[in-house]
Amino acid sequence: MAATVSDNLLDWYDAHARELPWRAKPGTPSPEPYRVWLSEVMLQQTTVAAVKPYFEAFTRRWPDVAALAAAPEDDVMAAWAGLGYYSRARNLVKCARAVAARGGFPTTEAELRELPGLGAYTAAAVAAIAFAQRAVVVDANVERVVARLFAIDTPLPGARAAIREGADLITPDERSGDFAQAMMDLGSRICTPRAPNCDACPLAADCAARGHDPERLPVKAAKKAKPVRQGRAYWIEREGAVWLVQRAPEGMLGGMRALPDDGWSARGDGSGEPPLQGVWESAGLGRHTFTHFALELSVHIQRDAPAAGGSGEWWPLDRLDEAGLPTLFAKAARLALAD
Ligand code: ADE
Repeated sequence: MAATVSDNLLDWYDAHARELPWRAKPGTPSPEPYRVWLSEVMLQQTTVAAVKPYFEAFTRRWPDVAALAAAPEDDVMAAWAGLGYYSRARNLVKCARAVAARGGFPTTEAELRELPGLGAYTAAAVAAIAFAQRAVVVDANVERVVARLFAIDTPLPGARAAIREGADLITPDERSGDFAQAMMDLGSRICTPRAPNCDACPLAADCAARGHDPERLPVKAAKKAKPVRQGRAYWIEREGAVWLVQRAPEGMLGGMRALPDDGWSARGDGSGEPPLQGVWESAGLGRHTFTHFALELSVHIQRDAPAAGGSGEWWPLDRLDEAGLPTLFAKAARLALAD
């Protein structure tokens, strides 16, 4: 069964692979490790559509790992703005510097895993896709395909060990990079979370869930409702510029440029620093969902503000899109500017 699954999947991939800027065509030599690594870091918890423009911009600005290693961290953080999960950007710089210092990427999964900030998934993906090493690559798409193929109905996350075993069983010795990306393409186009297109699936003949309600798999533990926190952000404007601060390096959106706020991220109970003194106009409420909570951020405006205190900078409004504000604060800025 394992050999027919991988053969059928690779045949399907040869005909149907998505063309993506970080990929080599099926069956051709591996793409550059730098491009594979960068794309895999960007693609964690982020869609292909969202990643594409960032990948193009990063590789244009920093064409190889040495260029990225030499970049100031703040520039990389600003270029990452909007992609989310900002610890990835900080780890990206750390990892690029370690790779540049050792003269290039290591080629095995075990050595890749030792690089700073490079997790089990990324090590496996880079080993397989960039270095043609046999590695078992399991992301959320692969998880779904394997859970269905073997009809694994233990709820996640408990099912992970069995899913990994199943993925290992069907991963071929050759072309494991193509195989991994074929599984991802199958998961995103055919074996979709809702209404999978089993009639078009190259693995249908071997699939244990076929005809047995594949949609129910993988079974997920019931999601807890996310708590909602309230916070305040301040739009302080003066002579065509807005007051921006840099967030503390640790903690949420760490190191990113931002609007001043009331410290909503550091507390769990809704209590905050008292509102800033002065006369404020309300610009409305922005909502944003993080991994562990939702935030309702009220935006408060002061125009013709007196000089602000503390550390920060007056940022020209006509260059606001270059400030690298994370999505939450970009939304708040839009509210303030629309006011
Ligand atoms: N998601 C994670 N890695 C990917 C890849 N190489 N191609 C498409 N989607 C992905």
